[in-house]
Amino acid sequence: YQKLDEFPQDFLWGAASAAYQIEGAFDEAGKGRSIWDTYAHTPGNTYQGTTGDVAVDHYHHMEEDVALMGKMGLKAYRFSVAWSRVIPDGEGAVNEAGLDFYRRLIKALRANHVEPVLTLYHWDLPQALQDKYQGWESRETIAAFKKYCQVLFAAFKDDVKYWVTFNEQNVFTSMGYRWGTHPPKVMDIKRMYAANHIINLANAEAINLFHEMVPNGLIGPSFGYGPVYPLTGDPNDVLASVNADDFNNNWWLDVYCRGEYPFFMMKQLQRMGIAPVVTAADEQLLKSAKPDFLGVNYYHGGTVQTNRLQKPVATDQQAKDFSATDPYLMQPKADQAQSPEIPAFNSVASPYLAKTEWGWEIDPVGFRVALRQVYEKYRLPIFVTENGLGAVDQLVNGQIDDQYRIDYLQAHLLAMKEAITDGVAMIGYCAWSYTDLLSWLNGYRKRYGFVYIDRDDNGPKELKRIPKASYYWYQQIIAENGQQI
Ligand code: BG6
Repeated sequence: YQKLDEFPQDFLWGAASAAYQIEGAFDEAGKGRSIWDTYAHTPGNTYQGTTGDVAVDHYHHMEEDVALMGKMGLKAYRFSVAWSRVIPDGEGAVNEAGLDFYRRLIKALRANHVEPVLTLYHWDLPQALQDKYQGWESRETIAAFKKYCQVLFAAFKDDVKYWVTFNEQNVFTSMGYRWGTHPPKVMDIKRMYAANHIINLANAEAINLFHEMVPNGLIGPSFGYGPVYPLTGDPNDVLASVNADDFNNNWWLDVYCRGEYPFFMMKQLQRMGIAPVVTAADEQLLKSAKPDFLGVNYYHGGTVQTNRLQKPVATDQQAKDFSATDPYLMQPKADQAQSPEIPAFNSVASPYLAKTEWGWEIDPVGFRVALRQVYEKYRLPIFVTENGLGAVDQLVNGQIDDQYRIDYLQAHLLAMKEAITDGVAMIGYCAWSYTDLLSWLNGYRKRYGFVYIDRDDNGPKELKRIPKASYYWYQQIIAENGQQI
């Protein structure tokens, strides 16, 4: 293009977080335990045993954190509510102190002209529901989730316009039930698809309830999307990429947006004996619930080739090592092992893309591809609810010069501006993340924030908040509504 379209005037320039990764205060003011509290407290599950017990102590630094957002000119802040802070056992009495924390947060955001974007579920299921019902493997948990949603809708319907149901259902079901690297640490693909179906029903129930209770609000899921590339132009590789797109993307997005599972993959799963049980009433429910927008979390896509070779089956350890570094690829790497269950494609590294220190491909053009693909298919406005770079930052003379993060974000914002020029309808963009926070399996050294937090894997230190170079850069981008991009 000679000239790119401008960002819409009301474009929401934002940043994001999640409760377990920032709040701390894991057992304060009546909060119940979540499955992440239990998982991180169990030796061997996380990097050097790091937990979110204190995290970056946002619970006690909330006013300070929000004031820094105000100074930055941030237009939107996406955060998640810890279900077990609001309803400690997941389904019983409401903990008013817990609800009050979020009430104060939302009030502070509004006072600083920051639009709150509330995620209902960012992976921290109340432990009591796991113990009592086996969590998302039981339909009882749908009723509990509905009750929790009802409490939040009633409390915040006048103050919060944008709501996210589930964060990256594809990632947390894969990690939790297939690779066994997140709670509840199950490695059984059939159980994964069964739990995933129950979460789809919970998502649909929440959306329908929302539309009854909050007619002026907007709600949608946030999906971890990655475009799938064929390694070569060999039609067999292209077919493999079509297959992989179904397994990695359509399996979730078609249900959210069309209310039905994609036919190819459903047939494959049925033939393999691992398909979820879907009743006629389920089908009806899924059809009835329509999201108002689609949340897209974008980090990178994936490359596949046709499954030419019969590779050895992945050992548990291989699967664990692999998915621990990169939750977005749905298979062990082809050069390591071939997943026994999904013969329709092989994941391979892209020969074209550089990687982050954690081996995640850096692919801003893929961001434009992603936005185009998703909008073309579902025609829902897109809210980018996560995108960012995890890196080790150095504090030098009290400052952090994270030019590499600025470069990464700049390239992705340009791709987004190009997608807008292409015609994609966009609501906003939340960088991941606002402050540094706990990276679930990588501890505190993998940093994403605009605001540095003075803590490391050994402990909280002073928890001082220090804006990085990227903070001032983003402040400028927001002030000029992305004109210089
Ligand atoms: C997404 C999650 O998967 O990616 C975030 O929604 C997460 O919660 C982010 O922190 C980055 O992943 P990681 O593994 O680098 O922390």
